[in-house]
Amino acid sequence: MIHSMSRPAIAHIHLDHLRHNYRLLKSRCGKAAMMAVIKANAYGHEMFLVAQALLDERCNSFAVTDAAEGHELRSILGRSNNIEIALLSGIFDTEDAELTRQHALTPTISELRQIKLLQESEFFGHIWIKIDTGMNRLGAENIDQMLEASHQAGISVRGLMSHLACADEPEHPMNRQQAERFNNICDQVAPELPRSLLNSGGLICIPEYAGDVVRPGLALYGAEPVANHPIGLKPVMTLTGEIMQVRDIAAGISVSYGASFTADQAMQIAVVGLGYADGVPRGLSNRGQVFLNGCKQAIVGRVCMDYTMIDVTGTDAKLGDTVEFWGENILANNVARSLDTISYTLFTGVGERVRRKAV
Ligand SMILES: Cc1ncc(COP(=O)(O)O)c(C=O)c1O
Repeated sequence: MIHSMSRPAIAHIHLDHLRHNYRLLKSRCGKAAMMAVIKANAYGHEMFLVAQALLDERCNSFAVTDAAEGHELRSILGRSNNIEIALLSGIFDTEDAELTRQHALTPTISELRQIKLLQESEFFGHIWIKIDTGMNRLGAENIDQMLEASHQAGISVRGLMSHLACADEPEHPMNRQQAERFNNICDQVAPELPRSLLNSGGLICIPEYAGDVVRPGLALYGAEPVANHPIGLKPVMTLTGEIMQVRDIAAGISVSYGASFTADQAMQIAVVGLGYADGVPRGLSNRGQVFLNGCKQAIVGRVCMDYTMIDVTGTDAKLGDTVEFWGENILANNVARSLDTISYTLFTGVGERVRRKAV
């Protein structure tokens, strides 16, 4: 994607905050190793930037979604450094199995068919085996059979993995139930294999179950995973647009599509060059806020594909001013809560045409 330099739609990526978050999480995971979850373009933060910064922190294990993302990451990291790239969705077909072999990826497997595909591709690397403990998403049905098939195929099992369903709710009984179930299964089928259970929320709710490898994603990007239990993470992304025009409108004049906002008195509005194609949720129409020159300002009218209008009455807002949609002054978690969603969807929804700029 070639980014126009003249349209300042920017996701500023604060790599110092990323590194702070990484260190903070590392200090909380005891003896467990950390697998940094950087799938979906590092939750929209740009995998290239994030991986480089974490490599500088000596992170040597990463998780992405699939073989395509794994391939891309391997080309960033290089082959010689022995860094693990786990594929959390495993592999889908022969082409994936080939990529997995060629780029020394570590797929997470929940079906025998996937082991067959790897065997046919003469893959002799490592796999994680996924176990379902209550999420009822992916997980191997017969783990003994999977272990045996891997052994027969000359594939090493890197470890056993499971995923928590309610990790952002510390009081939820499922957290400990899943952790106990996971440990029981591991003890039964392969007590010697490394175990990986905890995501960001899990690391906060039940750190005593960290096992051998923890897998935080969201927390690395600085959104607190557990609402009432902040641990001092710093927001990595600040999403900004720029004021393109400031206009005076009279009472009775409407703004944007559907004329859903009408000024009840004379006011000044600013047109900001960032819209829903950039990741500004349309649900913020007539209810969201942005941060401009030290103050919060209301979004007025419907969010458009390329623009969002804000009320700047009584301010000295001017052309070229930078407007924050979320970041340090407006937390993505708060924006998400106001929309009944989660900050994951905001981050991963940032458009491709938004330039990620390391700061
Ligand atoms: C299997 C698995 N592990 C770890 C993570 C990271 O989760 P979080 O971003 O909540 O830390 C995810 C994210 O969806 C996941 O699917």
